[in-house]
Amino acid sequence: MSEPSNGPRSVLVTGAAGFIGSHLVDTLLRMGHEVTGIDNLSRGRLEYLEDALNKSNFQFSEGDLTDLGSLRSVFSRRRIDTVWHLVANSDIAAGVADPNVDFRDTFLTTYNTILVMREFGAKRLAFASTSAVYGVHDELIHENIGPMFPISNYGAMKLASEGLISAAVESFLERAWIFRFPNVIGSRATHGIIFDLLAKLSKNPPDLEVLGDGAQQKPYLHVSELIDAMLLISERAQNPLNYFNIGPDDEGATVRQIAQAVLQEAAPLMSIRFTGGKKGWVGDVPRFRYSIEKLKELGWSPKLSSVAAVERSVAEIYRDFVVTKA
Ligand SMILES: NC(=O)c1ccc[n+]([C@@H]2O[C@H](COP(=O)([O-])OP(=O)(O)OC[C@H]3O[C@@H](n4cnc5c(N)ncnc54)[C@H](O)[C@@H]3O)[C@@H](O)[C@H]2O)c1
Repeated sequence: MSEPSNGPRSVLVTGAAGFIGSHLVDTLLRMGHEVTGIDNLSRGRLEYLEDALNKSNFQFSEGDLTDLGSLRSVFSRRRIDTVWHLVANSDIAAGVADPNVDFRDTFLTTYNTILVMREFGAKRLAFASTSAVYGVHDELIHENIGPMFPISNYGAMKLASEGLISAAVESFLERAWIFRFPNVIGSRATHGIIFDLLAKLSKNPPDLEVLGDGAQQKPYLHVSELIDAMLLISERAQNPLNYFNIGPDDEGATVRQIAQAVLQEAAPLMSIRFTGGKKGWVGDVPRFRYSIEKLKELGWSPKLSSVAAVERSVAEIYRDFVVTKA
């Protein structure tokens, strides 16, 4: 008999020491689940798991998902029924410069996870996908829009991962959830525009250099809302394969608004210097709008707008910077 959907589970979080992974671990532990985390600490940080490491229902394993042995050893230590697969390369530009990065960290890690889940009989998979799978669309992006032609290797390898998951549902997975995230922001950020701008400021430049013309506009979601939405989806969406956009319910925040919020928090007297051009970098989708109608029908709505999420996150990430420096 399968366990009730909201009962305690034995869960593996891949990418557990990363930005979103560490917040997810904290929430799953609070809910009473047995949680195992794996991360190679290439970008993730053990400090983000400080609370979790003090809990008896948490185990952490430092390991690389491109190595099947690391994954197998985690699965042999504890029976796992659900995997939240969050490992990926999170530097899209690096993946454009060297396609091997996304083949390895975004695709192969998913392939290996599915392979080992099959070997050990783990049947439920929740997957962190992305708006980057859609490519460029002028119209509102709903889940069934097409054709899906990603413009970054990152987006391509996430889309290929979604394909693997769909095939695994056909052959052995009982249930899978694919979450297509927008830009996610908040404390413990390891990358992203707010993090990058604050990192630039920490070098005391004469002005704040911002890539593009500042008009790039995208939806931004606070990490706490993302986790709330993912958990609700995993409880309520019970098809064999479930896929949802997650995002705020607005047109997004512009890069100019974000840069201004960063300066207001960290260097109010400094000016902004835009490098110009519509895109921040090759592979950047400068503008997209998300439909979250499907998610609303399931019963979830965001509380924060993109701009409110940016303002809250700038304060949180700036605090992280100050604490790290102190
Ligand atoms: N943050 C966002 O805006 C955003 C948007 C869309 C999708 N996502 C997806 O959400 C997930 C989490 O992203 P994040 O923002 O927390 O990034 P992150 O870089 O903070 O987390 C990824 C973690 O995976 C680890 N990792 C990378 N390669 C590994 C490997 N080969 N083996 C083991 N560990 C490895 C890193 O050390 C890191 O801790 C990723 O799959 C990402 O693609 C994030």
